[in-house]
Amino acid sequence: MVAATDVATDLSAIRDLFSPEPGTAYLDAATYGLPPKPTFDAVQRAILRWRDGSADWVEEWDRVAERCRVLFADLIDSTPEEIALVPTVSAGVGLVAASLPAGANVIVPADEFTSVAFPMMVAEQWRGANVREVPLAQVADAVRPDTDLVAFSLVRSQSGEVAPLDDIMAAARANGARTLIDATHALPFVGVDGWLGEVDYLICHGYKHLLCPRGAGFMHVARRAQADVIPWFAGWRSGTPLYGRTYGGPLTLPETAAAFDLSLAWHSWAGALPSLELLAGWRRAGVLAPSIALATDLAGMLGRQPTGSQIISVPVADAERTASALAAAGVRCAARGGQVRLSCHVWNTREDIERAAAALADAGA
Ligand SMILES: Cc1ncc(COP(=O)(O)O)c(C=O)c1O
Repeated sequence: MVAATDVATDLSAIRDLFSPEPGTAYLDAATYGLPPKPTFDAVQRAILRWRDGSADWVEEWDRVAERCRVLFADLIDSTPEEIALVPTVSAGVGLVAASLPAGANVIVPADEFTSVAFPMMVAEQWRGANVREVPLAQVADAVRPDTDLVAFSLVRSQSGEVAPLDDIMAAARANGARTLIDATHALPFVGVDGWLGEVDYLICHGYKHLLCPRGAGFMHVARRAQADVIPWFAGWRSGTPLYGRTYGGPLTLPETAAAFDLSLAWHSWAGALPSLELLAGWRRAGVLAPSIALATDLAGMLGRQPTGSQIISVPVADAERTASALAAAGVRCAARGGQVRLSCHVWNTREDIERAAAALADAGA
């Protein structure tokens, strides 16, 4: 394991790119990530050039997303041809759910985040799919030869718990089931290791741990799974050639996952690019592992098992009240599922987690 202090020199330069509220330990990237300075500047520039009408919208706000597509593909070792640009997780999951054949059998873990679970339940209510909710630890055992799809978060929203990926993927492989993974709380810290070649759909909203503006999200659709997804969201940006189809038929769509793109929320993408560029560099420099090390250290201070992710949660009697007490002590965290959730990122320091541990003790947690 990388010690939290090993790369402090690099991290201290990186921390200078962030401006959390003075006096606050911001341990809440799981709610929304903070923008690094280049991202803040890019969004501000986009808004200023929107105000005075001077922007070249194609180059500055729209085509910029094509570079984001490539960077996200690199991040997960996919290819740009397998990445769709989506505004939310629920939109991407909804597209997969809307494409399920009638009577499809779907497994989701119990207490799964609703942007994954609800679209499947909509398919159940309106399209005759069968959705089974199974405790996360039993998902792999629940997969059967008639299972069509297993949909789950790689890192759980409420707890930071990492799903038993090896077991689920092996069960899906053995039974011929497709897999849909929500990696919103996993990337860039926790990956799918060697499994990407067998993951059918991997979706990630960028506004948390990827430090993008909300509205910039990605969906890997494996080449072999692309024929199963119906491009219901096709619009002016989906035509081929890009920017070349504005009116009338015939329907010409890319023969890649770009066919599943949704038309873009421009300013989000202007901000997403610098964040993804920075993350690519930080990943190469190895400065992301210390965030998991910090969460592991914090778990130790609190006498809890580490999750293996950058998130840890503490069950408390009244999560909202405890989170408010922590906020009053200058520690920003969240209340989720009856727990206080704390999430580490590159701007966090040892002092931040010590302060959180002390504030939790003071709050009686
Ligand atoms: C696991 C998970 N996925 C996705 C999201 C965001 O959902 P959406 O992109 O549908 O707004 C969240 C937000 O908290 C989440 O916890």
